[in-house]
Amino acid sequence: MLDECLEALITDPKGIYVDGTLGNGGHAAAILERLETGGMLIGFDRDVDAIERVKGTLKSGGGKRVELVHDNYANMAEQLDALGISQVNGLLLDLGVSSFQLDVAERGFSFQQDAPIDMRMDRTQGQTAGELVNLGSEQELADIIYRYGEERASRRIARAIVEARGKKTIETTLELAAIVERAKGGRRGKKTHPATLTFQALRMAVNDEIASIESVLKSMVGRIVEGGRIVVLTFHSLEDRLVKQFFKRHVPREESLQQGGVRRIGEEPAVQWIWKKPLVASAAEQAANPRSRSAKLRAVEVGV
Ligand SMILES: C[S@@+](CC[C@H](N)C(=O)[O-])C[C@H]1O[C@@H](n2cnc3c(N)ncnc32)[C@H](O)[C@@H]1O
Repeated sequence: MLDECLEALITDPKGIYVDGTLGNGGHAAAILERLETGGMLIGFDRDVDAIERVKGTLKSGGGKRVELVHDNYANMAEQLDALGISQVNGLLLDLGVSSFQLDVAERGFSFQQDAPIDMRMDRTQGQTAGELVNLGSEQELADIIYRYGEERASRRIARAIVEARGKKTIETTLELAAIVERAKGGRRGKKTHPATLTFQALRMAVNDEIASIESVLKSMVGRIVEGGRIVVLTFHSLEDRLVKQFFKRHVPREESLQQGGVRRIGEEPAVQWIWKKPLVASAAEQAANPRSRSAKLRAVEVGV
């Protein structure tokens, strides 16, 4: 859905655009390519490895400026202030984890490769998923696995984790995956690994992902120029619900008054949906890129 993202995002090729989730730099490079002299790209990632890797490819030049910021996008407004930028023309968020993060075993995101259970996007701070798994209470683990994984066996899994760590600290991703697999009664012929939802839940908890999304939307919606866009690609129903409900509150609607007549309500600034329903990946894209199967693309324009 790269083309759809860019079509929705870029309304003025000389404008200022923020990619809040640089990752492998694919979207950012495509944005930069579409910008003209005077345009600016500001890229964020809380993973310093992502910043280091894209630095060489995303360069200022041809009258276009590039700024890369290593920080949580929850702090975007403050970082823009530090750059002396009060408003931007567009914001793109491609949520979740990058293929690079998943592929590097030592980052500890994947149950397919053995490594210490880390899962922090920003390895310079915060609790690792290993610490959470070994120190969190059974109730806390069950709640996280249920809330962020929407995993029905959350209590059983939390109990199995607590039992296992009572015998020996759970050190690696494969140890954890095996505990979850046993708690769920094995693979039972399913294609997806039984630990998929548990790993996703721990990752979302360790990185406080839902709260960060809420913060960036709240702090940035008022910093988009009239006619500018916010484009968000989600991969999880909780993320999509949050994004949908957030924008819904900003879409003006009419309320009937008791004394007759109507009044317009809705939070400021007003936004309008670019598409009534979220876009999903085509069958061809889903076949080529399995991650796109759960992708939903939503976009709004600021102003009425
Ligand atoms: C799905 S990838 C983005 C892929 C990117 N659009 C591309 O074309 O390669 C998500 C990236 O967002 C980063 N990320 C996730 N949450 C973040 C946050 N709260 N603040 C900053 N970066 C975040 C991750 O570290 C990861 O590199």
